Amino acid sequence: MHIAIIGSGYVGLVAGTCFADSGNDVICVDINAEKIAQLQRGEIPIYEPGLEELIRKNTRERRLSFTTELATAVARSQVVFIAVGTPEGESGEADLQYVLSAAEQIGRAMQQYTVVVDKSTVPVGTADKVRETIARVTQVEFDVVSNPEFLKEGAALEDFLKPDRVVIGTESERARKVMGQLYAPFVRTENPILHMDTRSAELTKYAANAMLATRISFMNDMAALCEKVGADVDFVRKGMGADKRIGYPFLFPGVGYGGSCFPKDVKALVAKGRELGMELDLLRAVERTNERQKRTLVQKALKHFGSLDGRTFAVWGLAFKPKTDDMREAPSIEVIEGLLAKGAKVAAHDPVAERTARRVFGERIRYTQLPYEALEGVDALFVVTEWNEFRHPDFERMKKLMKTPVILDGRNIYDPERMRELGFTYMGLGRR
Ligand code: UDX
Repeated sequence: MHIAIIGSGYVGLVAGTCFADSGNDVICVDINAEKIAQLQRGEIPIYEPGLEELIRKNTRERRLSFTTELATAVARSQVVFIAVGTPEGESGEADLQYVLSAAEQIGRAMQQYTVVVDKSTVPVGTADKVRETIARVTQVEFDVVSNPEFLKEGAALEDFLKPDRVVIGTESERARKVMGQLYAPFVRTENPILHMDTRSAELTKYAANAMLATRISFMNDMAALCEKVGADVDFVRKGMGADKRIGYPFLFPGVGYGGSCFPKDVKALVAKGRELGMELDLLRAVERTNERQKRTLVQKALKHFGSLDGRTFAVWGLAFKPKTDDMREAPSIEVIEGLLAKGAKVAAHDPVAERTARRVFGERIRYTQLPYEALEGVDALFVVTEWNEFRHPDFERMKKLMKTPVILDGRNIYDPERMRELGFTYMGLGRR
């Protein structure tokens, strides 16, 4: 199939590359000429394990190319994906200007029956707006499909190539068939294609993310409660997760959820409810807990040290989660800004996110090449992202480097008992 992907960001690049890898002819489009030039040279603007190799392979085999010329890409394509950004608008709802502008340009460029697919996370009702926008500018036949993306950063290729499910929302039988063919290589009986109407598909994406965010905030509340009653949240987590109805995933307390999806999607859903005269109280509480959680490590440090003024702290992990360089809504921002505001100095290490972190903190903090370099003379270490390389460090070496052996573990990656034995003052979340 000939496919065009409008928007070569995270979702667009991953989807385009994976469709090319299953034999389709794919053109990825972006208005950012610099980004396209970079991609044409085989340089990848984001960090995602395995993506660079797969892009290079498919570019070399001439199934994948990059352009700024939307009209040419659309004219030759049977399926056009809209994967442009949907930043947060003024009311908290997603801003659709890029989606609708792409839709209009697609409408003007189409030459044959085209399936236009919303891949960006968009509010319920967007497919109808996209349809109206295109219909205004063309006589050519087309259908609109809502096909939300569920991939996780850091595991995006795996998620795309072996999805739990593929959601296809459309009212058209013809478009349903095309989409079914396109996704056939990625699905098996146990990870099905779920066909539904566009509105249900659009809401599915928000509902899934809101549910996952709810689980995280719930566990963060439980962790806070564990501290008050003297229980250990890790036991509680395992005891809960063993119930098949609950399951283990997404029950890890932490420094709050971040990233490009959860915070934005929860907020958008609350805004949607409000627009329709409905308070989604549960989700508002989920947001409140998350805000509190992002402040919790600094509060623990304040309680321990009294004042943070003039002290120096190390931070391990800047990205919002491991295996990405993404800093969007990263809890590290709240932690570091909190420390700086209290007069502390920060030395930080992240295996890949230094470049993106520099855009956030500039020269206000010190960045180190190696995790141990951040520890020299510090009053405490904050573990903010659970990168694998932080899980089994040389604790004796750490103790020698640090001024005082204090660890605030925002991801509960160390065992409290062992840390005490090693002579650390250890503060996790909800641990005994
Ligand atoms: C998420 C969804 O998982 C994905 O399906 C959707 O398409 C986009 O949003 P992503 O933002 O890449 O993906 O990251 P994810 O792994 O889901 O983690 C989100 C946040 O929740 C991170 O900040 C993570 O640290 C936090 N988290 C996750 C927890 O605090 N505890 C958990 O148990 C799991």
